[in-house]
Amino acid sequence: MHTRKEKMSSEEKRKPNYGSILLYCFVCFVLVAEVARLAKPYYNNLQNVMGTAALVVEEGFMDVENSEMLPCSYRKPASVAARNHEKLTGLIRREDRTRPPSSYCVKFQNFATLANLVKQNGDKYESRPFTVGGYNWTLIIYPNENKPQGSGGFVSMYVRIDNSTLIDNPRNVYAEITFLTYKATIDKYHYLQETDVQRFHLFKQEWGQSRFLEIGYYRDVNSGFIFNGGQSVFGVDILVTNPFENWEVFSYEENIPDPLINWRITNVSTRSARFYTSPPFSSGGRDWAFKVYLNGVGTGTGNSLSLFLLSASNERGYVKAKLRVIDQIRSQHEEKQVEGWPNSTENGWGFEKFIPLQDIKNPAKGFIFNDIIKFEAQILSFSKVDSF
Ligand SMILES: *[C@@H]1O[C@H](CO)[C@@H](O)[C@H](O)[C@H]1NC(C)=O
Ligand SMILES: *[C@@H]1O[C@H](CO)[C@@H](O)[C@H](O)[C@H]1NC(C)=O
Ligand SMILES: *[C@@H]1O[C@H](CO)[C@@H](O)[C@H](O)[C@H]1NC(C)=O
Ligand SMILES: *[C@@H]1O[C@H](CO)[C@@H](O)[C@H](O)[C@H]1NC(C)=O
Repeated sequence: MHTRKEKMSSEEKRKPNYGSILLYCFVCFVLVAEVARLAKPYYNNLQNVMGTAALVVEEGFMDVENSEMLPCSYRKPASVAARNHEKLTGLIRREDRTRPPSSYCVKFQNFATLANLVKQNGDKYESRPFTVGGYNWTLIIYPNENKPQGSGGFVSMYVRIDNSTLIDNPRNVYAEITFLTYKATIDKYHYLQETDVQRFHLFKQEWGQSRFLEIGYYRDVNSGFIFNGGQSVFGVDILVTNPFENWEVFSYEENIPDPLINWRITNVSTRSARFYTSPPFSSGGRDWAFKVYLNGVGTGTGNSLSLFLLSASNERGYVKAKLRVIDQIRSQHEEKQVEGWPNSTENGWGFEKFIPLQDIKNPAKGFIFNDIIKFEAQILSFSKVDSF
């Protein structure tokens, strides 16, 4: 910056005709650079604080930065700051959609007549009350110029929350508000939405857009907002956003301190039910159960013993476990590992073909000993969801 200054001032001496222009340019440049420098920490801060709004600030900030390249064409840095400040209240969307207003709708058979009549009534039309989110609301439309004051040539739209429930129970009510008006030429609703949620309470019952849409559109029969000889339609979406009351936490448990659970079926030779389910066993703070089809199920029917691990509380998380049938003669076991989400609704985690029936029935293998068959499961890890 210093070298630039020296260069400029030497040029000034040689070409006095251009001196004042260059000086003006330089002042502009310094001013703009300074605003950019001062704005930067503020801007960085805002970026942290205000998620989406930062996007808008960024646009404004770019104006300042770009203007460094053309300082003289740049008008008033102060106006940039003011505009940014205005926009920081939220991001506003203005678009068309086919979906009608979700909370309430008002149709004027003749907009011009209505605008005239309300002049004797505070220059506003207030709808009947309607209920959204457990509160009564009214929609307020100002069809005339500069009503409310400061709205200029715009139709203004507001909503007001009925304070009767708030008086008994003072609280903040947060709501997303979108104002709409029907545009007949495209058969859509033109809407203005501020993406920030609005806070209503006993002392702040009203909120709205003083500059919803230029009144001129409602005077021009070709604009689409006036149709069928003077009709117009206004509406509102109110989405009351209550904070959640129920929630859940998903976690994954490993290193289960009490991983082993055991079960046995006695008098196997007399058992003829399709399947047997164990009582619940606890491991890792959860209850589990075994389910056994002695004669198989699915692809294992008639050829295998089918063995499954169930969640006794019917949870459907991710489970890693070793399932075993004990060889009671040789102190061994047949083991298979499950890992994943449940295989099937009624059977939890397991195998249709756990052991071939011929091995089960082979007396040398000891899976059935004293007419008893023994099962074991080692719970290695599981996901759980806790609800609050
Ligand atoms: C809404 O208004 C109706 C009729 O005026 C009233 O009966 C009802 O109690 C009100 N509800 C609330 C939540 O204020
Ligand atoms: C409740 O709302 C009405 C209508 O807006 C207003 O006249 C009244 O003063 C309010 N009451 C309180 C306690 O704010
Ligand atoms: C199971 O076998 C034992 C002896 O091994 C016998 O006392 C008992 O009655 C049998 N139970 C059933 C349900 O058959
Ligand atoms: C269940 O999943 C295991 C893998 O974890 C797989 O080997 C087994 O065949 C599956 N069982 C069924 C009945 O689909």
